[in-house]
Amino acid sequence: MNMKNQTILIIGGSSGIGLALAQQVKEQEGNVIIASKSAEEQAHELRKINKLEECKYFSFDITKESDIKKLLEKIGFVDHIAITVKSPLIVAPFLELNTQDVRHAFETKLWGQYHIAKLAYKQIKSGGSIVFSSGTLGVRPYLGFSTLSIINGAVESLCKTLALELAPIRVNAVSPGFLQLKEMEDKIPLGLGKPSQIAEAYLCLMKNTYLTGTTIFSDGGATLV
Ligand SMILES: NC(=O)c1ccc[n+]([C@@H]2O[C@H](COP(=O)([O-])OP(=O)(O)OC[C@H]3O[C@@H](n4cnc5c(N)ncnc54)[C@H](OP(=O)(O)O)[C@@H]3O)[C@@H](O)[C@H]2O)c1
Repeated sequence: MNMKNQTILIIGGSSGIGLALAQQVKEQEGNVIIASKSAEEQAHELRKINKLEECKYFSFDITKESDIKKLLEKIGFVDHIAITVKSPLIVAPFLELNTQDVRHAFETKLWGQYHIAKLAYKQIKSGGSIVFSSGTLGVRPYLGFSTLSIINGAVESLCKTLALELAPIRVNAVSPGFLQLKEMEDKIPLGLGKPSQIAEAYLCLMKNTYLTGTTIFSDGGATLV
């Protein structure tokens, strides 16, 4: 199956993994809608990227339910939704964390994905799916990274329970490994990942009509070390 004539909403598609996914969907003749905090402001530059000239771009804030509702009204029905929104990186020992900062990260990556699933599932066409983003820290903790460990673990649990509750809409997740953290490069069996490598896992989950409740660990072996 390719993505011909399928409409994919990529929330967080203005950069990184989401942007690579947008290009791969366009290469396979799908329609792409990119939504992110400042996608409309970035649209002029993003349209210069190969294949992305015909995408639709919408700005919204995933931490605001009212923004999500307005976005979904503009978009209508879609085949698949991939969410690749990243929360601010918070690295500090648990006892020193500023709880407000942690709450903001939860609002962005955990509650953001939760609200998208809750508010958007009725707009997903038959045979469609939602793909969440988690991350290695959800199953493999590192000192100082408790905030993302909690978020990513919760996202994977959300994925499994929604696979039961929203069926026949399929719900899956991708757990990306490390893309930027240079100090991890030599420790991971396959080194740091590239956005295009991770994006292929989202495509796989959209295309395979018998996958639901699954997390693909696209991490070069990061969870093993
Ligand atoms: N990169 C890694 O090493 C890594 C590792 C493990 C897991 N992950 C996970 O993989 C996913 C993709 O990561 P990435 O590195 O590709 O991310 P990225 O390049 O930093 O892109 C993040 C996206 O999130 C959007 N965004 C941030 N806050 C938002 C908000 N409040 N409302 C709407 N959109 C918002 C950004 O929009 P604007 O551009 O408009 O601001 C951007 O499109 C994330 O969930 C991340 O946690 C990444």
